[in-house]
Amino acid sequence: MGSLPSVSTTALVFLSCFTTCYLLLVPCNATSGAYNSSSTSSSWLNSPSSSPPPLPPPPPPLSSSNSSTGNATTTVRHHHNWFDPKGSRLITVDASGCGDFLSVQAAVDSVPVNNREKVLIQINAGTYIEKVVVPVSKPFITFQGAGRDLTVIEWHDRAGDKGPDGQQLRTYNTASNTAPAPMPGMEGWQAAAFRISGDNAYFSGCGFYGAQDTLCDDAGRHYFKECYIEGSIDFIFGNGRSMYKDCELHSIATRFGSIAAQDRKSVDERTGFSFVGCRVTGSGPLYVGRAMGQYSRIVFSYTYFDDVVARGGWDDWDHNSNKNKTVFFGVYKCWGPGAEAVRGVSWARELDFDTAHPFLAKSFVNGRHWIAPSDA
Ligand SMILES: *[C@@H]1O[C@H](CO)[C@@H](O)[C@H](O)[C@H]1NC(C)=O
Ligand SMILES: *[C@@H]1O[C@H](CO)[C@@H](O)[C@H](O)[C@H]1NC(C)=O
Ligand SMILES: *[C@@H]1O[C@H](CO)[C@@H](O)[C@H](O)[C@H]1NC(C)=O
Ligand SMILES: *[C@@H]1O[C@H](CO)[C@@H](O)[C@H](O)[C@H]1NC(C)=O
Repeated sequence: MGSLPSVSTTALVFLSCFTTCYLLLVPCNATSGAYNSSSTSSSWLNSPSSSPPPLPPPPPPLSSSNSSTGNATTTVRHHHNWFDPKGSRLITVDASGCGDFLSVQAAVDSVPVNNREKVLIQINAGTYIEKVVVPVSKPFITFQGAGRDLTVIEWHDRAGDKGPDGQQLRTYNTASNTAPAPMPGMEGWQAAAFRISGDNAYFSGCGFYGAQDTLCDDAGRHYFKECYIEGSIDFIFGNGRSMYKDCELHSIATRFGSIAAQDRKSVDERTGFSFVGCRVTGSGPLYVGRAMGQYSRIVFSYTYFDDVVARGGWDDWDHNSNKNKTVFFGVYKCWGPGAEAVRGVSWARELDFDTAHPFLAKSFVNGRHWIAPSDA
């Protein structure tokens, strides 16, 4: 492992805007990602760049250890009954002192536990250097920025950094980062720009900027509309049940990269990532999906692929647990110069309408109550 150099450049930031989150945070039980890091990555580093192409390094370890940053990983289960918030409140955050608070976290802290009001936290243009945590006990909070390029929240934790308790943060606890892009095979450099472990969270027009492991789509049902998500390896990962609608998925991979690593672990889980009407751009070669969990589910529909997709298109993660027999990977009516490569393995299917149908509508995330018809 060795010691890690301290953070240097700040090329990568997480931008927040129009983040509408109805947060009912649930615990993250993402333990299966605890791969054996001591036995990884060297083949990636050492393999020749000629064929056969090197596989991306295994995914980041997701930590189930306790968060040092609040209650986001603690005690509450899904709320099964939807209830409407009562009343509303506006809180403004302004870096230059013209709002109610100087920091986003201070605004969140001012919301009472068991909040029942609709709280709009308006974050004026500016760069907020802070790590923001919305605790499980504070639902009905909406963050609204001034625009994707104008309101920026950034922090600089990396998985190998030490938290207040002296333990390594690991990827799970690194949310909000400006960590530099790791070189292939480097350990401890993953850093999530954002983690969502809450249920019924809606994001509109947000940007998520990172490299390896940008967006930890950890648990719960989520809807991302017209978002921009940038990264290199497994840059959307976790065990959420999420729909990504009309988003741009932008790769900055320098050798091999991958978009999505989904961690569904059993046939009984209803999780999965559905990408609808997205655009895949950037650099490659790029796997579009990886079988993080044995029953990983990833579907791309009506999605445009630039000519950046790796031969085969998909990766079964470890080549020895027959995940190619248990995953559900599919494409439906995709297009663009990379679309043919996405159909590159027999275990990633071109779906027919009936099979694709459940992945095409907001019902995939049970969005009837919390996603307005105009937002779907
Ligand atoms: C990880 O790999 C090392 C070296 O190969 C081995 O000693 C150790 O037992 C492994 N740990 C786990 C959890 O598999
Ligand atoms: C972590 O959480 C578990 C269960 O929630 C608890 O038993 C344990 O004491 C916690 N550990 C720390 C270090 O807070
Ligand atoms: C976490 O929850 C416990 C119990 O509800 C509470 O006492 C504690 O203050 C909370 N901590 C934070 C950081 O919100
Ligand atoms: C599926 O993966 C296994 C190893 O886990 C491999 O032996 C087999 O050839 C793969 N099958 C296909 C069709 O890729």
